[in-house]
Amino acid sequence: MQTNDNKIDVVIGLQWGDEGKGKIVDAIAGKYDLVARFQGGSNAGHTVFVGEQKIVLRTLPSGIISAPMNLIGANVVLDPVAFRDELEEVEKYVRGAKKRLVLSKEANLVLPTHKLLDKATEEKKGVGKIGTTLRGIGPTYMDKVGRLGIRSGHIFTENFKEKYDSLTSHHRMLLDSMGFAVDKELFEKNERDFFDAIEYLKTFTFVECSNFVNAQLDAGKKILAEGAQASLLDIDHGFTYPFVTSSNTIAAGVCTGLGVAPQKIGRVIGIMKAYVTRVGSGPFPTRCEPEMEAKLREWGGEFGAVTGRPRGCGWLDIVALKKAVMLSGVSELAITKLDILSECDTIKVATTYTVDGEKITHMPFETDAEKIIPNYEEFVGWKKTIRGAHSEKELPEGSKQYLAFIEQSVGVPVSIISTGPERLELIFR
Ligand code: GDP
Ligand code: IMO
Ligand code: MG
Repeated sequence: MQTNDNKIDVVIGLQWGDEGKGKIVDAIAGKYDLVARFQGGSNAGHTVFVGEQKIVLRTLPSGIISAPMNLIGANVVLDPVAFRDELEEVEKYVRGAKKRLVLSKEANLVLPTHKLLDKATEEKKGVGKIGTTLRGIGPTYMDKVGRLGIRSGHIFTENFKEKYDSLTSHHRMLLDSMGFAVDKELFEKNERDFFDAIEYLKTFTFVECSNFVNAQLDAGKKILAEGAQASLLDIDHGFTYPFVTSSNTIAAGVCTGLGVAPQKIGRVIGIMKAYVTRVGSGPFPTRCEPEMEAKLREWGGEFGAVTGRPRGCGWLDIVALKKAVMLSGVSELAITKLDILSECDTIKVATTYTVDGEKITHMPFETDAEKIIPNYEEFVGWKKTIRGAHSEKELPEGSKQYLAFIEQSVGVPVSIISTGPERLELIFR
């Protein structure tokens, strides 16, 4: 029985990640009582600003600065060491962060050996590697689905160490069979660090995720669910599988990740960059040729927020964007980094692909990058800075045409325009 029609709003990325989810969540978090991460782990890097101070959040929800309560949800994979280090850093700038955080008992733990398995698997793949963040994400989700995983709530149980030893010895066997040499000294240090971080974890409030979230909804609390990674990296629907992450990054992931019913989903805010970037391996149809790519990377500062890896840069891909909008029932778009396009003489947008001589308007199953030829429409650049613009009146005509074209192409309105990295560099429509 539904007690009221209170719904959860959702923020998700619509491309290959790093769209500016952190910035947008932080900007609107003050309007919510609770901000909840529903999937992923420390593979995420969500950039926010506290005054002048830049902070990159990995496992913590981006509501940690402004929302009264934050939740790390059931389908998050929680690395205790990364979590402790991140929160200790955040607490230098955000007073009371720790008190405004609860964790799901169901979240699976990332063990030191999960990170080694991530590394070993990537090394074994060689040139075919996924280019993972090496945070142990894939191996932890594998154990979860294989029903071997250890959940956060288990840290309070008597046989936690037994569980740890059993899973770790299984991992050691796998690592041996892969011919992966473990650095004994370093591993022992990492294990000690892990158990120290477990003691730190024990000082937090843990909740049964679905009970907690549904009780908050019933009490009329306003909830925002924050996605990590993005739609094209979704484990089931990311069209460049296996070059994806290991969780459901689309809006449906909120239901499974937090334990709420589909009819409890409200606004779905899809975050898109005004162009496209991608880190790691895998097909990227609208990737620019090297000269233009280098320019976009420089103008946009396109380097991984955590790993520092250079991001591949390309033009907006409407074919991919439409799929992402469809997958999540996106109700509105937030477009970021429009200011970066002020540098361009010409701006291209892919509206269809040609594959084997045939024009298509959907993403093909066959993802041989060489085979996909994007068909572009071109826009004349507006060549006027819009950095920090706060109202639509400040936008040049060319940029308005660009926005109108996107809205018309995907059939969803742009409700937020981000014109710079800082919290207030925004236009709400
Ligand atoms: P996320 O993973 O989706 O949260 O995005 P990241 O934080 O990894 O990457 C987005 C980058 O773009 C960060 O460096 C942000 O500070 C920056 N950023 C976000 N929005 C804007 C914007 O509108 N303009 C500019 N110039 N930078 C932005
Ligand atoms: P945010 O939340 C961009 C990419 C990795 C790799 C693939 C699989 O900051 O947008 P994984 O470590 O998840 O097994 O890596 O997914 N990837 C991201 N790319 N932004 C992210 O997060 C990403 N998280 C994972 O580069 O290609
Ligand atoms: Mg990021």
